Amino acid sequence: MTLLLASRNENKLRELRAALPAWDIGLLDAREDPVEDGAAFVDNARIKALHGRAHAPGDAWVAGEDSGIEVAALEGRPGVESARWSANWIEDLLAALEGEADRRARYVCELVVIAPDGGEVRATGRLAGTIAAAPRGEEGFGYDPIFVPDGETRTVAELGNAWKAEHSHRARAARALADALR
Ligand code: IMP
Repeated sequence: MTLLLASRNENKLRELRAALPAWDIGLLDAREDPVEDGAAFVDNARIKALHGRAHAPGDAWVAGEDSGIEVAALEGRPGVESARWSANWIEDLLAALEGEADRRARYVCELVVIAPDGGEVRATGRLAGTIAAAPRGEEGFGYDPIFVPDGETRTVAELGNAWKAEHSHRARAARALADALR
């Protein structure tokens, strides 16, 4: 199965490849990026997938991915704004939660795949956890140094890329996608 991911994010590509080793996954690098103005992750995933569909070879399967973090004490923010919320994501999220007892958060990943015939397949993955007091660890990307999955004491950045390939919101969405396509 060959799948083109409509993204410039090498981290997402690496994680999807690790989660779906039997698939041949590449980045579809369209010259322009679409405007991600959807109200929900799935809307933005579909915007990227449709944009990719318009730029990909007709016989390719194309995937759009949108993901981010929802923080309970911030009523689900930054959510779809996760990438744009702040230039200093980690510092600003820690500051926003200063003195806050409720540190629950979850990662969400939505995948929308469009087949050569235009048919759509969707998959979702979530990972629940809490926001750590300070950043720890080197691997992963984005909020990983301050995200501790439920049942773990280490942050995702400490747990590392091999752990993410198995357990992350993206890995879960990728597995759900593989099941849906089967
Ligand atoms: P997108 O590229 O518009 O989907 O933005 C996703 C943003 O959500 C990223 O820039 C990160 O800030 C955050 N994010 C999504 N997935 C992860 C992850 O696996 N680890 C850490 N941050 C993530």
